[in-house]
Amino acid sequence: METVVHNPGLDGVVVGESAICQIDETRGSLRYRGYAIEDLAEQATFEEVSFLLLHGDLPSSCDLQEWQAELTYAGSLPTVVGQFLQTVPSSAPLMDVLRTGVSFLGMIDTEAQDVSHEANLRKATRLLAQMPLLLSWAVRTRYDHPVLKVPATKSFAQSLLYLLTGDLRESHAKELEVSLNLYAEHELNASTFAARVTASTLADLYGAVTAAIATLKGPLHGGANEGVAEMFYAIREPEEAQGWIHAKLRGKERVMGFGHRVLKHEDPRSAIIKRRAKALSQQADETRWYEIAEIIERTMKEEKGLLPNLDFYTAVVYQLIGIPKQAFTPIFVTSRMSGWCAHIIEQQDHNRLIRPRASYIGHPAREFLYIGDR
Ligand SMILES: CC(C)(COP(=O)(O)OP(=O)(O)OC[C@H]1O[C@@H](n2cnc3c(N)ncnc32)[C@H](O)[C@@H]1OP(=O)(O)O)[C@@H](O)C(=O)NCCC(=O)NCCS
Repeated sequence: METVVHNPGLDGVVVGESAICQIDETRGSLRYRGYAIEDLAEQATFEEVSFLLLHGDLPSSCDLQEWQAELTYAGSLPTVVGQFLQTVPSSAPLMDVLRTGVSFLGMIDTEAQDVSHEANLRKATRLLAQMPLLLSWAVRTRYDHPVLKVPATKSFAQSLLYLLTGDLRESHAKELEVSLNLYAEHELNASTFAARVTASTLADLYGAVTAAIATLKGPLHGGANEGVAEMFYAIREPEEAQGWIHAKLRGKERVMGFGHRVLKHEDPRSAIIKRRAKALSQQADETRWYEIAEIIERTMKEEKGLLPNLDFYTAVVYQLIGIPKQAFTPIFVTSRMSGWCAHIIEQQDHNRLIRPRASYIGHPAREFLYIGDR
């Protein structure tokens, strides 16, 4: 093997082409299939954004009606999944329940092994529609709460919020929807890359999504939004925030919700969700979490030059709309499902096995000795 420069963590390495998401890290801009995130986040519904990601274009009103009907039609869970959920210990992290639930759904889907474009789209639609149900069943059976049935006319965001909290307020659903739009896609982040690696072996879509969920769980990736909530609970009062952060940094600990591998200057999603968090805090007359967040933001900028990423102010919004902390990262799953599936489909439509190399730093060649001679 010729000598190659290696980049730990594949930092800055371009491994392929994609027509789904464009990140311009110098300008701090983000586009889904050509549309700026600033236009999509607050003006589009999650149904429009997920259609755009999976089908390549924004839907016409006729497409949208069909898409909503497809999602509603696909949105039921087989009885065996309900039986499986009854066996899950209440201590199991919800991300593990989703990961296993998706794997389970793949095992019983007769179309699972078909990696054609059409079959992949059908499976993606089913998974997108089933995720809120799987999540709410997992949460509600855990607390012995009856599983709720969503009114058929409700949007994806309204249904998800209702299924989790029983809240049907449109204003709260709008906040959730903005966050779903922001979470839907982000190029070759770790979980999407994991999904593409798995898909590149021509393994099935469920397997690729299972790998993605396992990858998203980590605190350096999707798990960060729950880490932010834990930090808020630990700090509790605005006047404690600065000292708390200083202590963490002195201990060389990472502060969740700050920093990004690609977006070193600004995360354009963060400005949007911060604005929403501020307005929501004022409307709800509950400004404590936002005040804590602003002090943390200021301290991190002064001490480390680091800026908040999407997970940071999202935790304030979720807190204010009554989402239980352990559902924060699973909600990320329900949204990123659209981006993951778009990438899996793109990968399998133009497949080449992903198989990088490593630079060997182990023991030089040595002679094998039989066990008695060692
Ligand atoms: C996301 C993340 C892994 C990207 O990291 P990266 O680009 O690979 O940067 P590195 O891990 O090389 O860190 C570079 C420096 O910044 C520091 N740093 C990066 N993020 C930090 C954070 N959130 N808190 C404290 N220090 C941080 C590192 O300690 C390191 O400092 P050093 O050079 O003094 O050792 C990192 O910023 C992080 O761990 N963030 C917290 C988790 C999080 O919010 N994840 C969601 C990402 S969207």
